[in-house]
Amino acid sequence: MRNSPDLRVQLAPRHPEGLILSNPVMIASGIAGYCGEYAEITDIQKLGAIVCKGTTLMPKEGNAQPRLVETAGGLLNSVGLENIGVDALIGEKAPVWAGWRVPVIVNVAGEAIDEYVAVTSKLEGVPGISGIELNISCPNVSSGGIEFGVDPELAARVTSAVKAATSLPVIVKLSPNVTDIKEIALAVEEAGADAISLINTLKGMAIDIDQRKPCLGNIVGGLSGPAIKPVALYMVFEVARVVRIPVIGCGGIACAENVLEFIMAGATAVQIGTAILTNPQLGLDVLEGIESFLRQHEIQNLTELIGIALA
Ligand SMILES: Cc1cc2nc3c(=O)[nH]c(=O)nc-3n(C[C@H](O)[C@H](O)[C@H](O)COP(=O)(O)O)c2cc1C
Repeated sequence: MRNSPDLRVQLAPRHPEGLILSNPVMIASGIAGYCGEYAEITDIQKLGAIVCKGTTLMPKEGNAQPRLVETAGGLLNSVGLENIGVDALIGEKAPVWAGWRVPVIVNVAGEAIDEYVAVTSKLEGVPGISGIELNISCPNVSSGGIEFGVDPELAARVTSAVKAATSLPVIVKLSPNVTDIKEIALAVEEAGADAISLINTLKGMAIDIDQRKPCLGNIVGGLSGPAIKPVALYMVFEVARVVRIPVIGCGGIACAENVLEFIMAGATAVQIGTAILTNPQLGLDVLEGIESFLRQHEIQNLTELIGIALA
């Protein structure tokens, strides 16, 4: 193959301006905060996009320690949306992002529809922000978050309220902690979502048998990492079959082969989370791996592979 394969993907085809990424490899929310320090250890400008930590109207301290426990092939976390709040994000983080080539998507969280709308409205017109990811799927907060992600009507209401409050593309991030994820996906698509990302973490817990109590300060947490990949892949497959908007696959991705699986299952792009903690260069490694797969199979456009396993 003479030319380099084309890795570009369109994340928001029904948005007037669209959201084209140079490649499908994104960093998932909550893994590298606002990516300032992360930018010092890896060339994030080469990635498709990054998603920052879930951001609320006011700063949040998060849950009691301990907040992280390793499990077989996975990680349980109960960070509880600790974040600096939207005003500090606008004042301190967005000016840095404005100088970056890589698009930054802000993960917006809240306890009520009004809070999601207030955070999103504040982000309107702020340089350095390319999109909104609506977190209706956080399992680690006592109110809001996941409540919106498990009820199709609430999920639709928060999506349309946020869409009305922004000119940016809106990605809605779904929870796997539901009976039928297709129902929620269809509801947010109908409500105007430009894309859907999935999955957030699966609810889980661990017990310290010596102390005879739960390992996490919050008792319950969210499971991520390689252990959840088959579940995430299945859910992406399920959702991609029924929606027309792009699906962003996330959950347990740890190598280029995993990314290709998600793309073949119908994902237009992917987000990498937990595996970045053990290999900060993983995004770039994965990009190289995808490119070499395409060359080896003489595929000019990555988009040719999207959903190929659905047929
Ligand atoms: C420590 C930690 C913090 C997270 N914080 C957020 C968050 O603020 N907002 C969000 O939407 N997802 C958050 N997530 C979920 C991830 O973005 C991702 O959906 C999930 O971990 C599955 O992907 P992975 O297996 O590649 O980590 C967090 C995950 C972890 C491990």
